[in-house]
Amino acid sequence: MVLHKGHKKKEVTDIGKLIHNAKHTSTIRTLLITCVTAGITLVVAFALFQYMDTQVPEGVTEVWSARILDTALRTNGKIILSLHNFGIHGGVSWFTRKMVDIVLTTLITGSPFGLGEDPELKITDTVYDGVGVKVYEPTAVRSTQRPVLVYYHGGGWSWLSVEVYDQATRELAKRVGMVVVSVAYRQSPEYAHPIPFEDCLTVTEYVINNAASLKIDPSRVAISGDSAGGHLTAAVSLRLKKKIKIQIPIYPCLQLFDLMTPSYIENKAYIPGMLNDVSMLTYWLNYGNISYDHIEKILTNQHTSSKLKKSKYAQYVSPEWYMKEHIRTESLRNMQKPTDNGDDILSKSIEKTILDPYFSPLMVDQSDLKGLPLTYVLTAGYDVLRDDGLIYYQRLRKAGVDVHLAHYQEGFHGMIFFFKGPIPFQVGIRAMDDLVNFLKQHL
Ligand SMILES: *[C@@H]1O[C@H](CO)[C@@H](O)[C@H](O)[C@H]1NC(C)=O
Repeated sequence: MVLHKGHKKKEVTDIGKLIHNAKHTSTIRTLLITCVTAGITLVVAFALFQYMDTQVPEGVTEVWSARILDTALRTNGKIILSLHNFGIHGGVSWFTRKMVDIVLTTLITGSPFGLGEDPELKITDTVYDGVGVKVYEPTAVRSTQRPVLVYYHGGGWSWLSVEVYDQATRELAKRVGMVVVSVAYRQSPEYAHPIPFEDCLTVTEYVINNAASLKIDPSRVAISGDSAGGHLTAAVSLRLKKKIKIQIPIYPCLQLFDLMTPSYIENKAYIPGMLNDVSMLTYWLNYGNISYDHIEKILTNQHTSSKLKKSKYAQYVSPEWYMKEHIRTESLRNMQKPTDNGDDILSKSIEKTILDPYFSPLMVDQSDLKGLPLTYVLTAGYDVLRDDGLIYYQRLRKAGVDVHLAHYQEGFHGMIFFFKGPIPFQVGIRAMDDLVNFLKQHL
């Protein structure tokens, strides 16, 4: 009985222990899960924070907007570059182009579909002399002598589209009261230099030559573009000179001779998803039909021979043109350019391309810059292309061209998109206002 009792008691105790143990185990398990979850969350948050902890230009107050922008585009860039390693040239395909367009359109307008209709504008997709264009006509402007802006969009001659620029081109058309012709030029690497340039030239000449039927004043033709579009602007101006009234290169890329300018060195880590040294170089390679095998060499200026480094071409982009007041790093203000190095074979194989002024608009004598139209150069302090634009400004000024510099110290590449929408930037708003005012005054 006692035994039995004891046995029973033991049983009860065992069950109690079991229950107690089970409770204990579940508490431990809950605790463990909580800890692991917290740990993972912390690691993910830390990784995300690290990943999002992009360098934001000093003076830009919209720090989180900049981080969101950079993270979204940097992720895109990573996917694209990995596709290149899988054999898709430059990661460029119908699908990746569409993907980049949608991401950027959403960041710019707040909707992946972009903007709807606008009662103040007549917007037409058409073709001028074989090249696609999107034409914006303010309905309030009834004159048959309307001013016009022909716009060449950016995106490294490879990416983006007239659709991504829709908000900016609408804004310009409405606020200035001019027609905007946005050019859907063919893109690289499928269409390398000079095809994108020739498409832009074709449309611009078409507008000038058909002014009457287009109800345009041929003496009031402006051209503009940003980044690769800024390059196309400078190249078209070099050809058409005073047939154009105003040219407006916006943070343009203008040379593949020296990728170690102070701005390439000190700015490559700022909002790199928008543009950095490597992405800019891949765009040049797409446009110039040059192999990606040379990336490392070109980034360190080994693609120009010692002979080229001592030639007049080096003088076109030499430190004597730098605007020291816009270089933040003290040691870069008095840069020396070594001339005793370079890969002769690589240099020889690409010199025809990189010294061509329609490929690198800075590769011209001062005398060739004379006769350029009134110029508005827009540059950004935290852009790898800053010095390309500033050298261009300095050289035009020296050549006697009527040139205006709009430099934004806290500016970054791509800022002109963000004058409204979900992530507006003060510097983007200011740049757009200044541009509108300049066009209103001078076109
Ligand atoms: C690039 O160059 C190669 C020869 O080096 C040529 O076969 C190819 O057609 C070129 N591509 C473009 C887009 O011009």
